[in-house]
Amino acid sequence: MRVASMASLKKADIVRMILGERARVPRKAEGRAFAPANIALCKYWGKRNEELNLPITPSLSVSLGTLGSTTRIAVREGASADEVMLNGKPVPPRSKFAKAIGYYLNLYRPPGVFFRLDTENTVPTAAGMASSASGFAAFVRALDDLFDWRLAPRHLSILARLGSGSACRSLYDGFVEWQAGAEEDGMDSYAEPVPGTWPALRLGVVKVSVAEKEISSRDAMKRTRRTSALYEAWPVKVAHDLALIKDAIESRDFELLGRTAESNALAMHATGMAAWPPVLFWLPDSVAVMRRIWSLREAGHAVYFTMDAGPNVKLLFLATDTALVQEHFPGVELVAPFA
Ligand code: PMV
Repeated sequence: MRVASMASLKKADIVRMILGERARVPRKAEGRAFAPANIALCKYWGKRNEELNLPITPSLSVSLGTLGSTTRIAVREGASADEVMLNGKPVPPRSKFAKAIGYYLNLYRPPGVFFRLDTENTVPTAAGMASSASGFAAFVRALDDLFDWRLAPRHLSILARLGSGSACRSLYDGFVEWQAGAEEDGMDSYAEPVPGTWPALRLGVVKVSVAEKEISSRDAMKRTRRTSALYEAWPVKVAHDLALIKDAIESRDFELLGRTAESNALAMHATGMAAWPPVLFWLPDSVAVMRRIWSLREAGHAVYFTMDAGPNVKLLFLATDTALVQEHFPGVELVAPFA
């Protein structure tokens, strides 16, 4: 009985569980918050619950410092629809973006109330870095501010996860681990900071294409999980890599961090290639960038990469190699997560 009803839990049920008796009456004219973008070093790839964005495995990311989203939210008095602004421009109400925001807002909306939501991204939007993670994390924090709920970080992380899985990691700076959890309702699936800073750590985004991707990460994960013969190896790979990445952070062993993150990303992409129909995010230029990285390594330079559900390549290196990276990857977008 219990299992049957738990399996059909909806996002709204979780929101209700977390908000409890808290009022949905704005306590101020405007809620406002920032959240950083994040890039996974050990990827989240595959859900055990599609509705609640509950992952099969844990994952570990690094937040991008001041790069992220700032969101402001206010009630639109007397309005009959929400208004969504992105980087100062109105978003067409029928766009995918506005619909996703509206759907998420419905989880919190008092009857007949409409909002104005204004998001500014400091992540260069054209750089191919995920902004949905920082977007949903800032969104949840802005709601918490508007309604003065004062939710615990763990609960904010769970609410952000309902918007987009990786968003639950954008509630913290630095290294962050998202616990997979085992509960049906996902109340044990949230992110927590991993101790340790690494001021010399650098990321570099090499833009290959900014065209909209052919398949969303949501659909790609689902197809991979259902059809790829390689998927059963993925949780084993994650358990192994996660332990190594934590060791690397603790001992500041950059080569261990770089090689584990790169191998983890390649394994994630391999599971997709073995799916049917195949999922391949790479373009010829993505492979060219990988090869350039491998020849730099052969020449003795500690430059590694990671890649998400798209063709752009994210370099991992140390501050001392900044000039080298700029020379070999002209136009690279540099990020110093701990600066
Ligand atoms: O949170 P989503 O649904 O956008 O999925 C993110 C998936 C990856 O970026 C490929 C991996 C990750 O852990 O961020």
